[in-house]
Amino acid sequence: MATPRRGEGQSWLNARFPASRLWREHLANYYVPKNLNVWYVFGSLALLVLVNQIVTGIWLTMSYNPTADGAFASIEYIMRDVEWGWLIRHLHTTGASALFIVMYLHMFRGLLYGSYKAPRELVWILGMTLYLILMAEAFMGYLLPWGQMSYWGAQVITSLFSAIPWVGPDIAQWVRGDYLVSGVTLNRFFALHVIALPLVILVLVVLHIVALHEVGSNNPEGVEIRQHKDDTGKPLDGIPFHPYYTVKDLLGVAIFLFVFCGVVFYFPDGGGLFIEQPNFEPADPLSTPDHIAPVWYFTPFYAILRAANFSLLGLDARFLGVILMAGAIAMLFVLPWLDRSPVRSMRYKGWMSKVMLRLFAISFVGLGVLGVLPSTPGRTYMAQGLTVIYFAYFLLMPFYTRWEAARPVPKRVDR
Ligand code: HEM
Repeated sequence: MATPRRGEGQSWLNARFPASRLWREHLANYYVPKNLNVWYVFGSLALLVLVNQIVTGIWLTMSYNPTADGAFASIEYIMRDVEWGWLIRHLHTTGASALFIVMYLHMFRGLLYGSYKAPRELVWILGMTLYLILMAEAFMGYLLPWGQMSYWGAQVITSLFSAIPWVGPDIAQWVRGDYLVSGVTLNRFFALHVIALPLVILVLVVLHIVALHEVGSNNPEGVEIRQHKDDTGKPLDGIPFHPYYTVKDLLGVAIFLFVFCGVVFYFPDGGGLFIEQPNFEPADPLSTPDHIAPVWYFTPFYAILRAANFSLLGLDARFLGVILMAGAIAMLFVLPWLDRSPVRSMRYKGWMSKVMLRLFAISFVGLGVLGVLPSTPGRTYMAQGLTVIYFAYFLLMPFYTRWEAARPVPKRVDR
């Protein structure tokens, strides 16, 4: 048999599939600003953790039993009897928290450097849609171990739908498929968690990156590098993604994996934050745990929900809480149209934006902490104050971004 000549296999493939073109357009000839800093590693890390979730999820599904009678025992079986089952499960549970940590840092970078501003509004909207679907994915996944917190968390959150006037109770029943969270709910959450939502998530990730590559990455200076190109059309302040950023991202991956494996091997329940204590007991619909709280990545919004302990404008407290919680997420969606500043990066914005971003970060973390703790009158007041700050950041943005004096932005990356 004749030995294929060098490159022959490649041209065979390229005549049938744009392999080299995709490689060039999205990696080797894809120009990225040369001044990207550590904040830019979290996109690749989100991708890495997502792959971890999918791979470990497939392996967990092989031994998991999605029935009310068998779910809890099948998790015990995975942890004790399935070879490496404990590792696969802890990679998945720690991965869920890691994905949200990485994603929150990724989103904060967007706020810091104005990455949501034109022409990247769609990148941001697609990212926010991903975030929303990932919240649903995590919520449904949390029911599957069928522990006490799984059960009661799902009961509390699905009951929120019933706060909607008139149609609410019917919607809640439709979501659960039953009057209460039951085996029927577990079955449908399993179907959505293992196939329906992951498909949507993968499509959204592709759209997110395609939209980003259409407009190119922003950078810490907020300068548009595509406005200054050399004679061959390459951005003067850009460098090819591969090999420069593949290497830089690999360093990020190595550091991340050290921390991630440290948690997986030595601290897998995250002190009750990644796997909550009541979830080591099987679900009991007749015994409510003393304190029900969702997993930490939902708690800022849960604290906003609980902060509404009064009725307003004819809305009862529970419905008001649901509206505020939905509003808190909706604010992030419309962010590109709230920011009226002439500049993107926080480096060139005025003092008001800087103060407001800090206050916002404090309010988000503070609400997250309060959401984990049992509520007391003092904590409710604090949550109310932080909720006001959270919304002020967004609702006052059209004003303070116009009133403050922005500093002139350099034309090129290195001034
Ligand atoms: C699984 C979830 C996600 C994945 C896998 C993902 C992936 C990525 C990747 C690989 C990049 C390019 C590298 C980088 O700039 O870091 C990126 C950029 C970006 N992402 Fe995401 N992302 C996710 C979620 C989100 C979310 C939730 C948002 C915001 C709501 C978001 C907003 C953005 C923006 C605005 C950019 C462009 C940033 C810039 O150029 O400055 N992404 N994303």
